[in-house]
Amino acid sequence: MPIRQMNSADIPAVLKIQGELSFQEWNERQFEQEIKAPYTYAVVYENEGDIVGYAVFHLLGADSELLSIAVRETVQRSGIGGKLLQSGLSQLDLEKSDCCFLEVRENNLKARRFYENHGFTLFGIRKRYYADGENAALYRTENRSDIDPSQKGV
Ligand SMILES: CC(C)(COP(=O)(O)OP(=O)(O)OC[C@H]1O[C@@H](n2cnc3c(N)ncnc32)[C@H](O)[C@@H]1OP(=O)(O)O)[C@@H](O)C(=O)NCCC(=O)NCCS
Repeated sequence: MPIRQMNSADIPAVLKIQGELSFQEWNERQFEQEIKAPYTYAVVYENEGDIVGYAVFHLLGADSELLSIAVRETVQRSGIGGKLLQSGLSQLDLEKSDCCFLEVRENNLKARRFYENHGFTLFGIRKRYYADGENAALYRTENRSDIDPSQKGV
C-alpha cells in the first residue's frame, strides 16, 4: 500500500505540493504540530519514492474532520485522492467516529465533485468564511454507524 503515515521528513515534499496547487497556506510548523497531535491522522501517498499526495484528518469522535487533502496535478484523476480519503474514513470507522465534516471553498468545484462522489453531503454555506471573503461549503458524511459495512470506505 503506497499510503503511509506522514513524518517530519515528508514535510518539504508536502509543502511543495501545497505550493504547486496554491490552495492553502499551512507552513512547516503547522504541519509539524499536526503530525505530533494525538488526534491527527496524517498520511502521504508515495509513488516510486515520490510523495504525490497527502491528507490530514482530525479524529475527534462526533467532531472528526478532514482538514486537508491534495494530489499533485500531474497525477490527479487517477484515484489517489480517493484512496487517501478512504484511508482516513477507514480509520474513522476503527475509532468508531460517527461522522466526518469538512469545509471547502465554494468555488472549488473540482474538490466539491470529488467529495460528493465519495459520500459527502452539502449541509450548509458559511458566508465570507475565508480571509478573502469567499464562502465555505460545509460537507459531512452520513452517520457512519448507519452505513451498511459493505458500503463503508466509499
Ligand atoms: C480534490 C483532489 C484531492 C482529488 O484528487 P484526485 O486524485 O484527482 O481524486 P480521484 O482521482 O480519487 O477522484 C477524481 C474525482 O474528483 C473529481 N474531479 C477531479 N478533478 C476534477 C475536475 N477537473 N472537474 C470535475 N471533477 C473533478 C471527480 O469527481 C473525479 O471523479 P471522475 O474522474 O470519476 O470524474 C485533487 O483534485 C486536488 O488535489 N485538488 C487541489 C487541492 C484541493 O482543492 N483540495 C481540497 C480542498 S482542502
